[in-house]
Amino acid sequence: MSFVKKILIGLLLIIIAVQFYRPVQNNDPSAMPNHISKVVPIPDQVNGILKKACYDCHSNNTRYPWYAQIQPVNSFVNKHIKAAKAELNFDNFKEYTLRRQISKLRAIENSIADGTMPIASYTLIHKNAVLTKDEKKLIEAWTTASKDSLEKVQF
Ligand code: HEC
Repeated sequence: MSFVKKILIGLLLIIIAVQFYRPVQNNDPSAMPNHISKVVPIPDQVNGILKKACYDCHSNNTRYPWYAQIQPVNSFVNKHIKAAKAELNFDNFKEYTLRRQISKLRAIENSIADGTMPIASYTLIHKNAVLTKDEKKLIEAWTTASKDSLEKVQF
């Protein structure tokens, strides 16, 4: 067997071996009772935008495309999801303090206004997660109204 063939077979075996590593996947359909819609009303249109552009990372349910189930992509993706959920989880929103809820709504508004969310490595693949001007306006109107209503509770 040639040297190159040995290397290729070795690589193939490594790729197969790492497939056995399965971290916990981000799929928990029972996790809706603390969803943000229990704190502030969300118009269907806004929820639709959040669903297609944010929930894959900022909720307890990710739609994994086939390649995201393959290692090491799966680990890369799950690391992102973990970091994203630690910052903001729409499915846990009701558990946040009022102050945190208001500051997260502000952060959502800012992240969309300055284009940092959804992150570029995601929109590179998920073209439909690139928000149009109108979609951004809808989110902004919703975060503003939601913040206002929560601030009234606070003061
Ligand atoms: C591919 C995964 C991914 C997607 C999709 C995504 N985010 Fe994020 N988001 C992250 C990660 C990772 C972080 C934390 C690290 C960082 O700030 O880069 C984060 C951080 C944030 C923060 C910062 C929270 C804070 O308090 O500073 C906000 C707000 C946010 N995202 C909003 C959104 C919104 C709104 C969307 C949809 C329009 C979205 N994200 C889509 C991965 C994602």
